[in-house]
Amino acid sequence: MSVHNNTQQAWESASHKYIDEYEEVLDEAKSARLLPIEETVLREIVVGADVVHPMSGHGIDDVALIRLGARSVTGVDYSPSAASAAQRRADELGVDCRYVTATLPASGLIDNSADLIYTGKGALIWVEDLEAWLSEMQRLLRPGGHLFIYEAHPLTPLWSWDRDKVEVRSDRGYFARSHVNDSFPAGGAVEYQRTFAETIMAITGADFELLHLEEHSEPFWRPEGMNAAAWDGQVPNAFSLLARYRA
Ligand SMILES: C[S@@+](CC[C@H](N)C(=O)[O-])C[C@H]1O[C@@H](n2cnc3c(N)ncnc32)[C@H](O)[C@@H]1O
Repeated sequence: MSVHNNTQQAWESASHKYIDEYEEVLDEAKSARLLPIEETVLREIVVGADVVHPMSGHGIDDVALIRLGARSVTGVDYSPSAASAAQRRADELGVDCRYVTATLPASGLIDNSADLIYTGKGALIWVEDLEAWLSEMQRLLRPGGHLFIYEAHPLTPLWSWDRDKVEVRSDRGYFARSHVNDSFPAGGAVEYQRTFAETIMAITGADFELLHLEEHSEPFWRPEGMNAAAWDGQVPNAFSLLARYRA
């Protein structure tokens, strides 16, 4: 099986959780909020915006985006389980979110359909060709539209989960191109890597003007019951970025 098919299958299996635990995720969505830094950065530009959310997963953040003032959210995910559960939840909550099952970068959405692309929290790590992905975002964005990313820091996969000290895993490298995910939810799937500089240069090279860029010590996700020294504030684990499409 190809790397791509293996990863897609890992996500389809993992996404059954959103169907099996439908009521719990629905409860979470009812009171969902974005992270404080996301609310601060997006507060003004999200109002009245048509948002596209590539790799939308469970879609809980989409409900939060609507609550912050977005006019609509379109989530794109290649897992039919994730997309259908998110659609059922949005319909039940009466929020203007719709979900499309598609394999990015080919979203199938029409040109100039977004004021804001919102993504992250485990999205870019599945993108092999960032330039192709950015080119699809350019096609979707209206002139002057924004790209917002809250994502794992490229250093995060290097940290061991040792409880007492921050350590770099000997089997991982900052300049490696990929590694195999060995934890839930997508265990066995191949995650793509690029350095922080490569990420930023790709975005600015695709005609995006950086408006906000910050590194954060807190990871966007902690496996249940786990606590690692690398998540205690000493090293970066996430970054947030807002950029405006110049076109
Ligand atoms: C960590 S999850 C969800 C991230 C989402 N922002 C969230 O918080 O729920 C990553 C998602 O990306 C989707 N995905 C990965 N590669 C994809 C691709 N090439 N096209 C579409 N969806 C993809 C997976 O199915 C999965 O639902």
